[in-house]
Amino acid sequence: MEFKSGLQHCFFVILIGLILSVVAEGGIAQDSAVPDGEPLYMTRCASCHQANGEGISGVFPPLNEVDWVTGDKGRLIRLVLDGVMGPLQVGDMVYTGAMPPWKTFLNDQEMAALLTYIRTAWDNDASAVTENEVRLVREATNDRKKAWTTEELEDEINQGIPGSFGFIISPRDTTGTN
Ligand code: HEC
Repeated sequence: MEFKSGLQHCFFVILIGLILSVVAEGGIAQDSAVPDGEPLYMTRCASCHQANGEGISGVFPPLNEVDWVTGDKGRLIRLVLDGVMGPLQVGDMVYTGAMPPWKTFLNDQEMAALLTYIRTAWDNDASAVTENEVRLVREATNDRKKAWTTEELEDEINQGIPGSFGFIISPRDTTGTN
């Protein structure tokens, strides 16, 4: 009897030890692995969209206070993965340039950090983008070989975060306006 409860005690201590070590490891791993979005933005995007997110009027559209940055996350992720071209109206300015694709240069984690940065930088105050959301959109659009057109991205079918089975699991986020 005494032996049995000693054994139980022993198991209990081991179990607590295991739980604590998993928690501690998770905490440390998360702290050191999460990339910082701001330096990624500075090296990848600021040459065109500028450090202050205002772009260059008529040439590179602003990322500050525009719906395509702070609105639907699925559209933003698609746009940055594969690029976008075609007339894009922001305020009273029409942009006709081409935005390059980034899917081979940024992994899911980097893309999540970068997009979270632009959604909260300057006057923007939108929700974070997670690594998992980037992964789901990347998987669903994996076959895409060319830039999106603005028309395609205005279509709801190309917005939202698809689930692993191909249907929308998160409702479209339509906060913010251009
Ligand atoms: C070589 C210049 C260039 C770089 C670098 C660049 N972009 Fe763009 N971006 C553009 C152009 C040009 C457009 C407008 C495309 C159009 O007219 O359809 C655009 C459009 C956008 C839009 C839509 C903006 C709006 O006002 O509605 C977003 C969001 C965006 N880019 C994000 C990014 C992010 C994030 C990066 C860095 C990973 C980046 N861009 C890097 C040129 C660039």
